[in-house]
Amino acid sequence: MGELEGKVAVITGEQFDRAFRLNARGILFTVQKALPLINDGGSILMTGSNASLGAFPGWSLYAGSKAVQQSWARVWLNELRDRRIRVNVLTPARSPPPSRRNCSTRRRKPRSSPSCPRGQMGRPEEIASVALFPASDHSSYVNGLELVADGGTTQSEKRAHLMSSITIIGTGNMARTLGALAVKGGNTVEVMGRDQAKARRLADLLGGGTTTGEWGAVPAGDIVVAALLFDGVVPVVAEYGDALAGKVLVDISNPFNATFDGLAHSEETSIAQEVATVAPADTRVVKAFNTIFRGVLETGRPDVFLAGDDAQAKSDVAAFVESLGLRPRDVGGLRMAHWLEGMGVITVGLAGNGVGHWDFALGVDDFAG
Ligand SMILES: NC(=O)c1ccc[n+]([C@@H]2O[C@H](COP(=O)([O-])OP(=O)(O)OC[C@H]3O[C@@H](n4cnc5c(N)ncnc54)[C@H](OP(=O)(O)O)[C@@H]3O)[C@@H](O)[C@H]2O)c1
Repeated sequence: MGELEGKVAVITGEQFDRAFRLNARGILFTVQKALPLINDGGSILMTGSNASLGAFPGWSLYAGSKAVQQSWARVWLNELRDRRIRVNVLTPARSPPPSRRNCSTRRRKPRSSPSCPRGQMGRPEEIASVALFPASDHSSYVNGLELVADGGTTQSEKRAHLMSSITIIGTGNMARTLGALAVKGGNTVEVMGRDQAKARRLADLLGGGTTTGEWGAVPAGDIVVAALLFDGVVPVVAEYGDALAGKVLVDISNPFNATFDGLAHSEETSIAQEVATVAPADTRVVKAFNTIFRGVLETGRPDVFLAGDDAQAKSDVAAFVESLGLRPRDVGGLRMAHWLEGMGVITVGLAGNGVGHWDFALGVDDFAG
């Protein structure tokens, strides 16, 4: 395998030829030579790899040279129709020797993970017993199939890509609500609070494997939600400093003035923009969730408006929002965070006046088409 690895930027012609000679050319001409020996009504079973279904950096030659089998199975089943020869692909995951079968490393105990759902890799005899089916007459009506026998790895990795790892800084009401939704949505959640006992209590309450992190330490989550009162957000982000480097930082705060009819900062700025000035240069700030009352988040399906300058960060937050069963609505760059804060003021104004209660959210009605 080692020689077949390589990223697209560094793959050499020799590496390409070696991989495709072995996995593609080798298969095609083996089948060609074997055809006269195969009985009419026989069965061809090619051995693929679940690498061709994944997205593993450095594996393009191996994945690509195995992926051809799926196309060939479809083409050949038609070419060999007159001889009633069926062509299928068996796609296993790694089935190493017993000494390396636990999904563990020297530093990590065996455990279940998206790439190893049952905590143990496949045994060769498990792959062999799957191969018996397409090889036998019991599968006489099965043709062109890709039979994946990987202990659920491909499916659970697909799901894992959809899930986010979240750290919530804060232990108050919004931390509890967003934390509960995040756990329910299958995300990995960590809680950090300036009061460690509160953080521990919240983590226990949220369940689902929620952990706590030490205040000021590097958050475990890729997405960090600052669920703090607005005047605490900038100082706390400054206090965390480099610990937030590389993170997507979500500001949910509403800097209301004392009479709840304006913003505490009179400038055309926002807490999110101020956060961006004190956070490390590679921390990507996104404003989100601030326009939704907590009770509505708990019971409703409101639109979640978000603003930020980094497209990937917004897409990560949007994926998180979707995992909560909510609809993300991108309003533009981080400058728009100011207007989202204004929208928070409007929402409170509506609650106290035109709407008259708190069980609503501003959203988008799309009349196109
Ligand atoms: N509640 C809503 O309906 C709603 C809706 C949208 C947005 N928001 C926004 O969400 C944020 C959190 O609201 P919430 O309802 O969760 O408030 P909350 O229940 O009062 O919780 C506030 C949290 O912030 C922490 N905190 C406050 N000042 C801090 C500081 N200087 N340093 C460190 N931690 C500090 C508190 O820690 P301690 O517990 O240790 O004091 C607490 O964990 C606010 O900015 C709010 O505007 C709220």
